[in-house]
Formats: sequence, C-alpha cells, structure tokens
Amino acid sequence: MSDLFDNIVPLDPPFERMAEGAVLLRGAALPFEKKVLAALDRIVEQSPFRHMVTPGGFIMSVAMTNCGAAGWVTDRSGYRYDRNDPEMGRPWPTMPDCFRELAASAASNAGYPEFRPDACLINRYEPGARLSLHQDKNERDFANPIVSVSLGLPAIFQFGGLKRNDPIRKFALRHGDVAVWGGPSRLFYHGVPELKDGMHEMVGRMRINLTFRGAL
Ligand code: SIN
Ligand code: FE2
Repeated sequence: MSDLFDNIVPLDPPFERMAEGAVLLRGAALPFEKKVLAALDRIVEQSPFRHMVTPGGFIMSVAMTNCGAAGWVTDRSGYRYDRNDPEMGRPWPTMPDCFRELAASAASNAGYPEFRPDACLINRYEPGARLSLHQDKNERDFANPIVSVSLGLPAIFQFGGLKRNDPIRKFALRHGDVAVWGGPSRLFYHGVPELKDGMHEMVGRMRINLTFRGAL
C-alpha cells in the first residue's frame, strides 16, 4: 500500500475535524436517543433544572442540572465541581449506563479510547438562551476530553482557540450530533449564541446539551 493514507485517523464517517484533537461526530447519539431522553426525565425529577448565578451576579439564561459523582455549579463564590446538588442538599443523580456508553463510544471514535466520565453537566437552552465564550477549566485533569451531545433544536457552536480573541469557527449542531475536544484543543474557547425558536418533534421547544467530563 502507498503511504498516502498514513496520516489519516481511521474514524467512521461522517465526522468533521474542528481543530487538532477536536471532531464533530454527526448523528453519533442517535442510537441512544430514546434511552437517553427517558433517563434524562428521571434525573430531572431528582435534580431539577435551575438558572444558576455567575460569580459576577448574572443569572444564566441556560438552565442546568448534573448527574454523576460530581456536578458543575456556579454561585456568587465562584465556579466549582460539587459532589452534592446544593439546591437539593444531596448527591447528584447517578450517571445512567446509557449516558456512560454514549460518552465512551463517542470519545473512542474521536481518538480518546480511555475516557470514562465522572460528571455530566446537562444544559437546557430555551429560545433566546446563550452561553458566552468560555473555557472548560474547572476539571482536575485536562488529559480527559470533553464530550458534548446535542439533542433537540439546532444551535451554532462557536469554536475558537486558546485565547479569547483567537478566530472563531462556527459549526451547526443538530439533534444527535456529538462534539469531542481534547489534547491540543482541550482548553479552546467555545460558546453557543442565542438559540433560535423552533419545535423539535422529540424534545420540544428547547435544546438539551449533555457535556461529559472527567472532573474529579
Ligand atoms: C458547554 O460549553 O458547556 C455547552 C456547549 C453546548 O451547549 O454545546
Ligand atoms: Fe463549555
């Protein structure tokens, strides 16, 4: 064989390369969608969505909850991972097996076969909600990638670089798409501009994003 293909990572199509270490796996969550949405309902019964407050005192337009051994939270004292849901005064709901399987299979297809998440931040965007450009850097070990699953209404994903003012590329994220970023792009700035109104046949008038992390 020629060495023409030597540098090509053997990923299942369709995938798109977003940056070094970062890929977009189109539709990779579709085989899991029914189980994941049912499991999400049970999580939200135990730890409901809530609008958290930033350290600067702003109420986030994205509503959040978590599952797993730790959950990402923000309040006036800062950003952190907490083993307990501060609103409920008890641990976050256990991470369902279908969540783990989805995250591990997507990470493996993206070139991170070792990834085993211990935290899943669940974001709910209603029309108009947005997440401004930020880095995910409250995790202990940046060797783990971030695995980000999109469900429901479509959104634009802004993916920049290591500096806030680096050029930004935009990717459409649709129901079932999974974005994975790690290695050289693990600390890249990213965000989601205002969600456009619409109605998704399975998820309704919202977008749900599951973001799997190795937090502890
Ligand atoms: C996040 O950065 O936590 C969420 C990204 C997304 O909603 O796609
Ligand atoms: Fe993030």
